Amino acid sequence: MAELTLFSMVEAVRRWRAGQRGRVALVPTMGNLHAGHRALIEAAVTQADAVVVSGFVNPTQFAPGEDYASYPRTPEQDLALMRDAGADAVFTPSVDEMYPFGADAATVIEVPALSGMLDGASRPGHFRGVASVVARLFGIVAPDVALFGEKDYQQLLVIRRMVRELFMPVAIVGVPSVREADGLALSSRNAYLAPDERARAPALHAALLAAAEAFRDGGEAAQIERDGLAALKAAGFKPEYFAVREAASLEAPRPGEPCVILAAGWLGKARLIDNVRLD
Ligand code: PAJ
Repeated sequence: MAELTLFSMVEAVRRWRAGQRGRVALVPTMGNLHAGHRALIEAAVTQADAVVVSGFVNPTQFAPGEDYASYPRTPEQDLALMRDAGADAVFTPSVDEMYPFGADAATVIEVPALSGMLDGASRPGHFRGVASVVARLFGIVAPDVALFGEKDYQQLLVIRRMVRELFMPVAIVGVPSVREADGLALSSRNAYLAPDERARAPALHAALLAAAEAFRDGGEAAQIERDGLAALKAAGFKPEYFAVREAASLEAPRPGEPCVILAAGWLGKARLIDNVRLD
């Protein structure tokens, strides 16, 4: 098994990076790794000669009152999974290392076209925090390619847009969602589900699949969204949104253009999100 080099300091990662001759891939995570993260690392191994995984619970992407303090942290377990999946280096900085002038005074990246709607409307400032930390990671690691999960579809679009607009020399690769056998997308936040909630959680993916079929059959977006919200409520969710959108822009769907159906809702203490693409 390949050796895993551990870094917590920016300068040490940069030195390591400067010594790499081949392509370098970055997989940004907040730790508490599961099979979804594993799929990203395994895809990264096929795309590059060296794979860096970052593990950093980024305070700036949590709104006040969200689960920053209680977000699951499992560093030992994470190292075993990274090693097993074929990562070469791990970067787990402190908050001070990532935000040397303080998280509150940090320079930020704003992607206004994609950050105000859907998850951005539910979680003000969330995508500013995501873009701001991912830009730092790109600055530190200078990867040739970086991989992100399609489970966080809006996040993937925000990153793609940031990279294009800021002319960052990194290729962005999206990786399909990894799911439990019953359809529930893997997420660190699934751990917040009580057993009865866990049993009802697959209703989110089921509602999205039903919506995709209805849309393919010519159903009207507004009606499909209403039916989706009703299905989530019937399963015990407190839904936040259920939206049929154009896949590239997250604007209203246009005939003939690929689209995506996205949904979010609370099940007990867990906020779950998911989406399905229609090409
Ligand atoms: P985190 O939630 O740890 O997710 C890290 C990466 O794993 C993201 O790209 C996410 O989309 C992907 N991922 C999570 N669950 C997945 C699943 N079931 N299938 C496939 N991929 C999955 O997303 C973040 O961290 C942060 O916002 C981050 C980008 C690291 C910035 O802080």
